[in-house]
This record gives sequence, C-alpha cells and structure tokens, in this order.
Amino acid sequence: MTPDGTSPQVADMEPESRTGLGRERIAPQTGAPADAHPVAPADAAGTVETKQGLSVTLEQLKAFYGDAEQVKGIDLDFRANEVTAIIGPSGCGKSTMVRCINRMHEEIPGAHAEGRVLLDDADVYDPSVDVVAVRRAIGMVFQKPNPFPTMSVFDNVAAGLRLGSGGRGGRGKADLHAKVEGALRAAGLWDEMSDRLSEPGAGLSGGQQQRLCIARSLAVEPEVILMDEPCSALDPIATLKIEELIDELKKRVTIVIVTHNMQQAARVADRTAFMLSGELVEVGPTQEIFTKPNDSRTEEYVTGKFG
Ligand SMILES: Nc1ncnc2c1ncn2[C@@H]1O[C@H](COP(=O)(O)OP(=O)(O)OP(=O)(O)O)[C@@H](O)[C@H]1O
Ligand SMILES: [Mg+2]
Repeated sequence: MTPDGTSPQVADMEPESRTGLGRERIAPQTGAPADAHPVAPADAAGTVETKQGLSVTLEQLKAFYGDAEQVKGIDLDFRANEVTAIIGPSGCGKSTMVRCINRMHEEIPGAHAEGRVLLDDADVYDPSVDVVAVRRAIGMVFQKPNPFPTMSVFDNVAAGLRLGSGGRGGRGKADLHAKVEGALRAAGLWDEMSDRLSEPGAGLSGGQQQRLCIARSLAVEPEVILMDEPCSALDPIATLKIEELIDELKKRVTIVIVTHNMQQAARVADRTAFMLSGELVEVGPTQEIFTKPNDSRTEEYVTGKFG
C-alpha cells in the first residue's frame, strides 16, 4: 500500500482497465462527451474555478473490527463542493467512519463495513467497482504528513500519476510536469517549491509536507478529499495556511475534515456533524451546531463540558 491507499498492483494496469467511478462514470449521463472531463483538471495555471466535487451519501453505514461495531448505522450527506467537519470525542468512530468512505477500513485485518456509501449515485461498495478507482476519486490526507521520504518533491506529487499511466511514464514529460506544477500551485506550495523540486520530501517543514501530501492527492484529480485531523501536528501558522487552502480547494473538491479543534471547524466547515459512540447525533450548518444545536449532548460537547 502507498500512503494514498493505492495498492502497488495498480502499476500493472492500464487506466482503461479500471472501472470508471465518479467523473469518468458520470460524464456520459450529464451529456458531456465520455472522454471529456466536464471540469478542468489541475492545470499549470492552478485554475480552480470550475465545480467538480461530488456528493457522498452514507446510508446505514456500519463498521466493525471483528465483531465490535464501532460505527453504528450512520446516515449522512456530504454535499458537493462543501466542507463538512466531523467532530466528537476521542474513540467515537470519526476516523473509522471516514476510512469507510474510500474503503480504507477494509484494509485492516478482520475489519469490514456494511451499508452503502454513494459517490454521487455510484455505490463505492458495488462488487463491479474497482477499489483503486474509489481511492483515486476519494483521496485521503492523514494526521501525520506522510510524504515518501526519500522521493523528491516532484516525484511525490507525480507518484499517483505514474501509477495511473502503468508506471511507464505513458503521459508526456511536459504533461506530467504541468500536472505536478498545477497540483503544487493548487496546494499553495509552488512558490516555495519551484526551485526545490528535486529535494527529498523529508526535508520539508511539517506544514510544507502536509501541503505536499495534499498536492499528491490533488494530482490524480479526485472528486472528494478526506482529511483526518490534517493540522494536529502543525503550528498555528501552518494550520492557517491549510485552512485557507481548504477554503480554496472546495471550489474543486468536496471536503470531509475530522477535527478536534472547534475553532477550526467553525472557521472552515459549511456543515458540521457531531458523532458520539459510533452514532451521528446531528448534522447541520456549522453556525447552528455551535450556537443552537438540537441535541443537548452536542451543546455539552461544543461548549467543552465533555470530550
Ligand atoms: N484497528 C483497530 N482495531 C480494533 N479496534 C479499533 C481499531 N481502530 C479503532 N478501533 C476502535 O474503534 C473505535 C473508534 O475508533 P476511531 O479511531 O474511529 O475513533 P476516533 O473518533 O477517530 O478517535 P480519535 O479522536 O482519538 O482519533 C475505538 O473504540 C477504537 O478503539
Ligand atoms: Mg481518529
């Protein structure tokens, strides 16, 4: 497994052999030519204006480790091109739930999920769907920045693109460079990194490493990015940069962010979902969740009475 969750065997596959999911699959239904992306991918100019996120819908999602049910039948909508924050006390199942969305949960020995996860209208658990396609469409950024340490900045971002071209660099060199530059620009890292592209990823600051990981996930043009406490290892300035980035990125992707930081949820999220003991207590516009929640448990949590 790579840090993005893509499995190494994808390197042996032609892109055409992967089951289309998300944009590729949806394009013909929207009347766009099947081979045309209805939206501009990350180009060298870092264009981010066009809408291209997709909604994610959880229907009675349950997640188990062995027999232990840790996500207990969640129904939840993540709206396209919005940021949804997931909050709740430690151990309530936030990471588990998020890992079910791109089928990372099933990589844990003995773990399985039940229920449905829809990317727009496509069930990511449908047996005909390729899990690799799911993880390209739904990228993930983790708590601890995890660039490939010895790989250069450029190669870190290019890694997923090279896998997609069969590992043989099938796309032209100029095309690859343009996509890497576009992803680095979109991740707010180009100006700092344009003359450091050949340095190893491990040599970057923590905040730069996290933006590099975001660039790496953006390079393959996902529709959704899952972020599990992406700022918890960062200082306030680096955190602010990521938050500004999230605000910009939602123009092109749908974002789900797990956070323990209430101020962060309030700053970045359009909607906030509160979880407790594997269940969804409530979800709503962030402002409402923080100022007039429906459930007293939400109020107690957001005002710091527990958790
Ligand atoms: N690999 C695993 N094997 C068995 N149980 C696990 C595993 N990972 C998590 N759990 C359990 O599942 C429950 C939910 O854990 P999860 O990591 O999803 O919580 P969380 O809300 O993300 O917590 P935190 O805020 O501390 O990150 C916990 O009881 C945890 O102990
Ligand atoms: Mg967690």
